[in-house]
Amino acid sequence: NDPMISALRGPSLSYFANPFDDQGSICHRYEADTLILIEDGIITHAGAYDPALVPHGIVPDHYPDGLILPGFIDAHVHYPQMPLIAAHGRQLLEWLDHYVFPTEARYHDIDFARLIARRFLREELRAGVTTPITYCTVHPESVDAYFEEAARLGLRTGAGKVLMDRNAPENLRDTARTGYDQSRRLAARWHGQDRLFYVVTPRFAPTSTEEQLDLAGTLLREGDGLYMQTHLAENQAELAWVQRLFPASRDYLDVYDRFGLVGPRCLFGHAIHLNEREWARLAEAGATIVHCPTSNLFLGSGLFNLKRALVSANPVRTALGSDIGAGTSVSPFATLGEAYKIAQLRGEVLTAHQAFYLATLGSARAISQDDHIGSIEPGKEADLVVLDPRATPLLAERQSHAETLEDQLFIMMTLGDDRLVRATYVAGRKRHDRDNAGDLS
Ligand code: GUN
Ligand code: ZN
Repeated sequence: NDPMISALRGPSLSYFANPFDDQGSICHRYEADTLILIEDGIITHAGAYDPALVPHGIVPDHYPDGLILPGFIDAHVHYPQMPLIAAHGRQLLEWLDHYVFPTEARYHDIDFARLIARRFLREELRAGVTTPITYCTVHPESVDAYFEEAARLGLRTGAGKVLMDRNAPENLRDTARTGYDQSRRLAARWHGQDRLFYVVTPRFAPTSTEEQLDLAGTLLREGDGLYMQTHLAENQAELAWVQRLFPASRDYLDVYDRFGLVGPRCLFGHAIHLNEREWARLAEAGATIVHCPTSNLFLGSGLFNLKRALVSANPVRTALGSDIGAGTSVSPFATLGEAYKIAQLRGEVLTAHQAFYLATLGSARAISQDDHIGSIEPGKEADLVVLDPRATPLLAERQSHAETLEDQLFIMMTLGDDRLVRATYVAGRKRHDRDNAGDLS
């Protein structure tokens, strides 16, 4: 079998160091005319364009006015909630009861799950996201539907069946035992297939019994390289509820900790209302927070302390998420733009380089996938997005006054949406092309 070879050419931007650590030092590499060579989905060369390096018979996809970046990571999202994005008027617990549970109840139907999974992944690719990490629903069918579609597209992505054995409608509950058995079967079927990984997914402490959390911890320990995802300290009413349900726990994080659910590859959505003990414990354990700015503002949950997470003597690994359907956009530009505004409301600063680092290499490191993705360099998988910094009349006008690369990036994260995404490549294959609406996937 001949290797599949392809090439891209154009300006590129990629990070190699953490701009939250090395404030003031250069953490990125910008190359005005880059040649990226790809063999069987892996980057084999990334450097200044040199026609002598282009393999015979290969014509690079050329984007002279574009900006090539590593594909974006969306580390906390609920694909089944896409049909309820932008539902009006409630905070977390009421919003779950009123909008989320009735919608999630539809996913016993695998055809519906397939339809939404397909639309969801198309939307993520349109937004330039190449690695989503998603919750499914309590139904195993919702996981099969998602992974089938993700495998077809060749994505690096994670997902898991929601575990929920109390405080939810009857038709959305499993039991500690069935939840464990079904998750184990799904992990055996999907984890490590192609680029897929399984994520043990207790929804959040209030919807699981101690027995279920205990079995989730068992599953995580038994599995080889499985992930865990859940929600943590998102909303004040939720905090009070957790305290009532788990009176023996020191705080919210301790509920998960007592069942072995706090460690590397454990992803905690939100983490807005933490005490210093919880911050220190997350740091010590190597656990990961996923900051979900548009969701936190939409549900009125609070202002995440990104500075405590990342600019600190004991930083906590932090990734970014859209948290659709509480989030209001799958676009990383919206996520970054709202992260900036949350920092503003806290009297803090998020620079454009910090923001774009977080959406790429920073999130890849936070989810322990930076061996594979997050930057443009030989050996990494060729998940790439091509931006069009002048995609709209307003963007073009504003970019004409930009003086630095950092200005250009900040304009994109403030004004950008899916129109900015000219093309998205998954393992070297173009899976989205803005200007050729014909569906590539
Ligand atoms: N907490 C428990 N479930 C959910 C959910 O589906 N979305 C959000 N934002 N928070 C949650
Ligand atoms: Zn969520």
